[in-house]
Amino acid sequence: MEAAAASLAPPKPSVERLLALAERDMAGVDALILEHMESSVPVIPALAEHLIAAGGKRLRPLMAVAAARAAGAKTVEFRKLAAAVEFIHTATLLHDDVVDSSSLRRGKVAAHLIWGAPSSVLVGDFLFARAFELMVSAGSMRALDILARASRVISEGEVLQLTRAHEIGLTEAMYLEIISAKTAELFAAAAEAGAVSAGASDASVRAFRSFGMNVGIAFQLVDDALDYSGASGELGKNPGDDFREGKATLPLLLAVARTGASEAAFWDRTVERLQQDEADFARAQALVLSTGALDATMDLAYDYADRAKLALKGVGDPAWRVALCDLADVAVSRSA
Ligand code: IPE
Ligand code: IPE
Ligand code: MG
Ligand code: MG
Repeated sequence: MEAAAASLAPPKPSVERLLALAERDMAGVDALILEHMESSVPVIPALAEHLIAAGGKRLRPLMAVAAARAAGAKTVEFRKLAAAVEFIHTATLLHDDVVDSSSLRRGKVAAHLIWGAPSSVLVGDFLFARAFELMVSAGSMRALDILARASRVISEGEVLQLTRAHEIGLTEAMYLEIISAKTAELFAAAAEAGAVSAGASDASVRAFRSFGMNVGIAFQLVDDALDYSGASGELGKNPGDDFREGKATLPLLLAVARTGASEAAFWDRTVERLQQDEADFARAQALVLSTGALDATMDLAYDYADRAKLALKGVGDPAWRVALCDLADVAVSRSA
C-alpha cells in the first residue's frame, strides 16, 4: 500500500533541470567566487572560505544566470553579476548572524563564534565591496544600479525588522514589507539584473523582476515556517532561533492572533519581554501547529509561488522558463 502511494506521489520539485541547463555558467560563477574571495590579509580568505566552502543552495546566482539565459544573453558578463549577487547574499548572512546571535549557519559553527563579531562584520563589508568590484567589471550601469539599490533595500529591511522585532501586534502588511526588503529584493534584483544584462525588453525585465520578488517572498515565508517545523540537521541552522529572539514572523503573528486572550500572558512574557525557559519553544511550536498558523503561512507561500510563475508566462526562452518555474516550486517545497 505504502509503496503504491509513494509511486503515485508527484516527484518532489528540484532544481536539477535548471542546474543541468546552467552547469557551465554556474561553474563559471563558482570560479569567479573563489577568485574574488582572495585577499593578502590572512583572516579574510579563511573566514570567507568557512562560509562559502560550506556551500549554500546558490539559488540567487542561479536566478540571475537563468534570467539572463532565458532572456537570450549573448555574452557571459552576467556570470559576474551572478557572483556579485552571491557575495551580497553571503555578506548579509555574516552580518545577520551577528545581529541574530545565531550559532549555526550552513551546518557549521557561525563565523562570529570562531573569529568574533568584529571580524565577521568586517569580512561582510569586504564581500560587499567585492560584489561592487564584480558589478563594475560587468560593465552595465543599469545592472549596477539595480544591485546597488537592492543592497540598500536589504539593509533597510534588516534595520526595519530590528526596530519592530518584538511587536506581537505587527500587521501582516508590515511583516510582508520587511521580508520583501530583507529577502525578496535580492531575488528580484538577481532576476532583473540578469535580464537587463541580456538586453531584454522593458516588459520582460519587469516580468523577471516580478518573478524574483514573488519567489523571494515565498522563500522567506517558508523559511519562517521552517523555523517552527524544520530539523536542524537538514536546515543547517537551528530551528527556534526566531522565537528565541522574539522575532515577529508570520507563523507567530497568526498564532498570537488565533489564540487570543487564552495565551496572551504566554506571548507577552516570551516574545515581548523575552523571558523564556527551555520548554517555551515547544509550547510555541505546538500552538503554531494547532492553530493552523503554520499551514496558513505555507498556503500564502504557495500563493506567491503561483504569482511568480504567472508573472513569467510567455516570457523568454521556453526551456529556461520551465526550469525557472522549478525554482519557484523548490522555494516552497524545500526542507533546507
Ligand atoms: C538564507 O538564505 C537567508 C534567508 C533569506 C532566509 P538561503 O537559505 O538561500 O541560504 P544558503 O545560501 O542556502 O545558505
Ligand atoms: C536572513 O534573514 C538574512 C537576510 C535576508 C539579510 P533571517 O535572519 O530571517 O534568516 P536566517 O534564518 O538567519 O537564515
Ligand atoms: Mg538570521
Ligand atoms: Mg535576521
